[in-house]
Amino acid sequence: MARCFVTRRIPGPALDRLIDAHDVEVWPHRLPPTSDELREHVAGVEGLLSLLTDTVDEALLDAAPDLRAISNYAVGTDNVDLEAATARGIPVGNTPDVLTDATADLAFALLLALARRLPEGERDVREGQWVTFEPDRNLGAEVTGATLGIVGFGRIGKAVARRAEGFGMEILHTGDVELEELLERSDFVTLHCPLTPETRHLIDAAALARMKATALLVNTARGPIVDPAALERALHERAIAGAALDVTDPEPLPADHPLLEAPNLLVVPHVGSATVRTRHKMTELAVDNLLAALAGEPMPHQAN
Ligand code: DGY
Repeated sequence: MARCFVTRRIPGPALDRLIDAHDVEVWPHRLPPTSDELREHVAGVEGLLSLLTDTVDEALLDAAPDLRAISNYAVGTDNVDLEAATARGIPVGNTPDVLTDATADLAFALLLALARRLPEGERDVREGQWVTFEPDRNLGAEVTGATLGIVGFGRIGKAVARRAEGFGMEILHTGDVELEELLERSDFVTLHCPLTPETRHLIDAAALARMKATALLVNTARGPIVDPAALERALHERAIAGAALDVTDPEPLPADHPLLEAPNLLVVPHVGSATVRTRHKMTELAVDNLLAALAGEPMPHQAN
C-alpha cells in the first residue's frame, strides 16, 4: 500500500479503485490547496493525483522525496515541471483522448454563440429589450462557409476541423499554413496548442493586428496563450469583432478585471472537458495512470 494524495474530489466511481488499493487522502475542499498546503500534504506521499490548479514544481518535488508517480487530471501538463520530474525518474501521467470531443464541442459552441450573439440576445430577452422581430437587430456572422483558422492541429484541433466540415467551412491550420497567413485569412480563429514557453502570448498585439476586423477569436486551450492586455485593447478598438474564452490569464479572472469590461467578450469557466461522461473517463485514466506507475508498470498515458 502506497500513500497517495489526491488534490481534489474528482467525479466518477474510478477513484474507489485507488482508495481500495492504497492509503489515499483526498483534499475535501472546493478551493485547491495553496502551495504551502500542497507541500505539507505531499510529505511521505508516493503517488500524487494533481489538477491543473496545482503547481508541481521543484519546490513541491523537494517536499515529496518519496514520490514515485504523478498523475495529472488533464491533458495539459503546463502546471507540472516535466523536466524536474523526469530528472528524478518520476513518471507524469495525463488524460488525452477522453476529453477531445467534449473540448471540441465546447470550442464550437463558443464559436456559434459568439458568431450569433447569443449572450447579447438572451440578455435582451431577460431585460425586456426584445420588443419585436427586428430585421436589423442582433445580426451576427454567418458560420456556414466561413474560413476557420485552427492554431494547433493535434487531437482537439483535428476534432474541431471535423465539426467545421459539417458547416462547410474552409479550414486553415498551423500544420499547413504559417500562423501569420492563418490570422490574416480566417473569419474565426480557434486555439488548440499546448501552453509552452513558445506559445505563451502567441496571440499578442501583433497577432491580433493581423486578424480581420470582423474576425472572432476562440480560446479553449490555455489562458496565457493570449496576451490579455492586448486582447482587451483589440476588443475596445474593434480591431477584432469578438472573443470567446473558456480559459483566461489569470484564471479565474477577478470580477473587476478590466478585460471583463471589453465589448463582445464571452467568458465561461474552463468547462471544455466538463461533461459527466468525459470527467468520469478522465478519472478512470488518471487512476489507471497512478495505479500502473505505483505497481512499477508503464502508465497508459505518460507525458514525460
Ligand atoms: C485539460 O485537460 O487540459 C483541460 O484544460 C481540463 O480538462
